[in-house]
Amino acid sequence: MSIISGKTEISHRREESTIYNTMKINGGIPLSGTVKTQGAKNAALPVMAVCLLLRGETLTLDNVPDLYDINTMIETLESLGVTVEVKRDENSSQVIFHTPEELKWEVSETLARKMRASSLVLGPLLANCGKVSLPLPGGCSIGSRPIDLHLKGLKQMGAEIEIQNGVVHASVKGKLRGRRIYLDFPSVGATENLMMAASLAQGETIIENVAREPEIDNLAAVLRCVGVTVETEGAGGVRIIGIDKAHSGRERVIPDRIEASTYILAGVMTNGHIKVEDLVPSHIDAILAKLEEAGAKFSVKKNSVEIFPSKKRLHPVSVKTLPYPGFPTDSQPQMAAALSLARGVSTIEESVFQARFLYAQELNRMGADIQISRDVAIIRGVEGLQGAGVKATDLRAGAALIIAGLSAKGETRVDDMIHVWRGYEAIDKKLRGLGARVELI
Ligand code: UD1
Repeated sequence: MSIISGKTEISHRREESTIYNTMKINGGIPLSGTVKTQGAKNAALPVMAVCLLLRGETLTLDNVPDLYDINTMIETLESLGVTVEVKRDENSSQVIFHTPEELKWEVSETLARKMRASSLVLGPLLANCGKVSLPLPGGCSIGSRPIDLHLKGLKQMGAEIEIQNGVVHASVKGKLRGRRIYLDFPSVGATENLMMAASLAQGETIIENVAREPEIDNLAAVLRCVGVTVETEGAGGVRIIGIDKAHSGRERVIPDRIEASTYILAGVMTNGHIKVEDLVPSHIDAILAKLEEAGAKFSVKKNSVEIFPSKKRLHPVSVKTLPYPGFPTDSQPQMAAALSLARGVSTIEESVFQARFLYAQELNRMGADIQISRDVAIIRGVEGLQGAGVKATDLRAGAALIIAGLSAKGETRVDDMIHVWRGYEAIDKKLRGLGARVELI
């Protein structure tokens, strides 16, 4: 990947694509129209890693979004020996993974460093090959992101793990062994890694204090489609009975609740009239509850949410991010952007990641009044924002700045769009479809 005069060139083996680094927004226009939700990035990444549990079989996934992180995962899987076929057209987006009888088990440092979610190959590779080397993905701008819980669980299942020069070397004699594992925190990634590891382990694994995000249910469905017995409903957590050999299977990636919420909040912030389709409204209950409390006008149908314009400004609200079904940390920057226009003082407490408020100083450049005190953002609502030059400090910060720019008077330029392409498919086209004046430069 190289940055050439403001554009980031990324070459994939499938296609040559240009990723633009700046979005120019002429704001102040209420959005209107209908937008469809993409497949969920955070569901697609772990279920793609399920192909590493196979041998000489095929995994087919529908509704896989076309994103930078998804391409990184495809490159990682290809580097391990999987043949990947991508079939995309206007109405569908299917990816087929042909897993060979023998996989490679060493992940390259370049790929591991590109994306934190590369750690998701750890559990399935170890379970299938008996060994794996994974360079540690390192920290990132939303806080330190260790994988100690992943490693602790794998050790409990019989893995021997050493970290040398920043590389995790894990191995197991024979098969991993099913165990009862209690997670100290309901980590999404640790739950997913351990579920995949348990799928080829000897006997039964029960993981307690697991993450309950909808992406975990999607992973359970994909594991079932390749032959694993997975129960996610019991009070005891997730129960998995390991199998000797996984077979071919096909499943669908769930809709992206964070992308859908971003468009919903863009509709609210611009006082627009938009319909967000192809989502599961119950997945965003926490966000809709806060929007209702803040006085936003919307209606919920089976697969869609419609936002209506309102003559009144939002009421201030208090938000605390929590593991699902609590308010998602991945929607807090966008919620902060919306609350920056409320009539009064709102607070957002971040309890999942440290340092997830880097976007606040950028929003303040646009006229917002946000003060950070440790884990809490104090947001004093202002009447309106003004366009400015701002930088996306991470993926969701970028989304927050874009929706702020849509509501602001004048021109906003969001730089470092590379972060946004990790998680939002064709965001420029989707916004133009809603009447926004946005341009990539
Ligand atoms: C996933 C999502 C990310 C989302 C996050 C929380 C993907 C690809 N990413 O990230 O978008 O923001 O869930 O909803 O699905 N932790 C440890 N030790 C560990 C693992 C985690 O201390 O071994 C801590 C982390 O530092 C963090 C918290 O637990 O403070 C939550 O992390 P986790 O739930 O694991 O998030 P990810 O799976 O990395």
